[in-house]
Amino acid sequence: MREGKISPLPKHIAIIMDGNGRWARGQGLSRLAGHRAGADNIHRVVEWLHEYGIKYLTLWAFSTDNWIRPRREVFGLLRLLNEVIDREVTSCLENGIRLLILGQIDELSQRLQSKIKRAIRLTRNGSRMVLCIAFNYGGRNEILDAVRKIIKDRVPAEGVDEALFNDYLYTAGLPEPDLVIRTGGEMRLSNFLTWQAAYSEYYFTPTLWPDFDEAEIEKALLDYSQRERRFGGLRARGGKGTRSGP
Ligand code: IPE
Ligand code: IPE
Ligand code: MG
Repeated sequence: MREGKISPLPKHIAIIMDGNGRWARGQGLSRLAGHRAGADNIHRVVEWLHEYGIKYLTLWAFSTDNWIRPRREVFGLLRLLNEVIDREVTSCLENGIRLLILGQIDELSQRLQSKIKRAIRLTRNGSRMVLCIAFNYGGRNEILDAVRKIIKDRVPAEGVDEALFNDYLYTAGLPEPDLVIRTGGEMRLSNFLTWQAAYSEYYFTPTLWPDFDEAEIEKALLDYSQRERRFGGLRARGGKGTRSGP
């Protein structure tokens, strides 16, 4: 157990897993081989962060904007999601982890949708950690989806506040990410957690996702532990790294 080694720790970490393609090119492999290496790294990173005692982890695996990639690559990524779910369900059940999938799930095949629903149902009692895989996820789409549902539910304008809006997002019930990590060197969000990451701390590393290992995680967590989060005030609220609430 690594709990207690670094303090304060983020309660919720969200990771933009980028750089699989460049990793593959560097190894003289196909892009799909890079995605496979990236998928294999998911399991290790979940284990390490679970050992640190992180309570919520969101991993972005496929963006609503990734459909424009070559068909072969898109199919490969869908196949990998299937495999990752199979593997993670077993390990989530062993480790008390609840698995959630965030995104426009209804655009996926019926088979994949059933697999996702089954995984969510089987792991629903996991209480040690929540693992969210963001797949076919786009932040602006999520906001538009929420607005459509709010209108459909005929919520009066005065009733629309931040708390209500949160309840209409894919992330309903989850805390906001304290730390957003992006591997692969780009310094942008690319439409990730547009609403939720308004007050997150950001950590960008040139390390490519398949190479993002335990030492890299420790570096990111140490960096986070030194940040002072003020939420618009003049002093760190609730000690470094935590939000004490209104
Ligand atoms: C991230 O790796 C995985 C997905 C976006 C699906 P990339 O495939 O974007 O890798 P690079 O950015 O081309 O290296
Ligand atoms: C973001 O990476 C999406 C995921 C990591 C799943 P992209 O590689 O698609 O982002 P851009 O195109 O560099 O902004
Ligand atoms: Mg990329």
